[in-house]
Amino acid sequence: MSVRRVEVNLPGRAYEVRIGGGALGSVASAVRSMAGARASRVFVVVDTGVPERFVDQLSADLASQGFVACVACVTPSEEIKSIETYHRLMVEIASTGHTRVDPVIALGGGVVGDLAGFVAASYQRGVAVIQCPTTLLSMVDASVGGKTGMNLVVPDDAGGSTLLKNLVGAFHQPRLVVADMDVLASLDPRHRRAGLAECVKHGMIGAGLGDDAHAGLMDWMIEELDGIRAFDDSTIEELVGRNVALKASVVVGDEHESTDAKAGGRMLLNFGHTFGHAIETIEGVSPVVDEPGLAPLLHGEAVGLGMVAACCAAVELGMCDRSIGDELVSMLEAIGLPVRVDGLPPGCEILDRMMRDKKMAGGSLRVILPVGWGKCAIVEGADEGAIVAGIDSIRR
Ligand code: GLY
Repeated sequence: MSVRRVEVNLPGRAYEVRIGGGALGSVASAVRSMAGARASRVFVVVDTGVPERFVDQLSADLASQGFVACVACVTPSEEIKSIETYHRLMVEIASTGHTRVDPVIALGGGVVGDLAGFVAASYQRGVAVIQCPTTLLSMVDASVGGKTGMNLVVPDDAGGSTLLKNLVGAFHQPRLVVADMDVLASLDPRHRRAGLAECVKHGMIGAGLGDDAHAGLMDWMIEELDGIRAFDDSTIEELVGRNVALKASVVVGDEHESTDAKAGGRMLLNFGHTFGHAIETIEGVSPVVDEPGLAPLLHGEAVGLGMVAACCAAVELGMCDRSIGDELVSMLEAIGLPVRVDGLPPGCEILDRMMRDKKMAGGSLRVILPVGWGKCAIVEGADEGAIVAGIDSIRR
């Protein structure tokens, strides 16, 4: 088993991301060494999409290290990433007799990682979490950097309710991240493509980070496009390694997303997200790809569409050339991601949702917009007409 390692060098809380086929086999012994002899239990939150053999293997490995493994299952969706599920998991962990020295393991995609991470962040004021991402999206993005939390449904002005993404949460860095490429092989094609959207997002900010290694990410992805599209094992492992390295460097530079004005701050990772979050949970918005009728959007699909909208808004604002958006659209189309959708409500309605996103700064909308190929900037108080033009550009 060859495993590559990427360090997330946060002062005093550095941790490793292990990437490779069979890497899950190293989790139980790593948990024993980090938790110490007193730890006796592990609370494992498992995504029901993960093939059973990986869950069984991890449980057996934990047992052989002397742990009692309590498994709680979550069927992922944006609706399930809720206070109710959090409450259920908290009751489950508390009823197992889990103590402060006992760790939590998240085995699944972004929804499971975020929920389990928030359980770990808040149970008895914080216990260790080990993130074992099983989707491409969670490997290259969600599992690294300590963002945890859930969505919240709040009443809207029209007497209905709106699901606001990740409104409740905490930063809680994992102690270890393990991305097992063998688990990834079981991912369906649509989820693979959705994960690639976050890689394209990294490519779209890479040249602005001041590090040659990340500046070349987009060019490397274009060169390797055939292998990426075919989900070739070694190309995808390299892709995960490069993306995790980029994400790690951004997180180390701005762990709590607090350096708003600084180029290279963590907020750049939200490129495509303010637009994307606003459309992601709207019922009836359907990606127009080769498999019709696939509503609702997956997070990665919404991020891809959000990046297209952001490019158009940036052109409206005179911030970048139209060719940037054209190249992005070609890249997303080559991957098989939607660049337009059916069923979008009026732009002003989506703008209203964007205004309620947690990336608002005081009363003004804050968006990440491209200023060149591979370079983005944070824009506060962006003109609403340009934002609506961006939204309209992804309307089918
Ligand atoms: N997914 C964006 C971040 O972790 O900051």
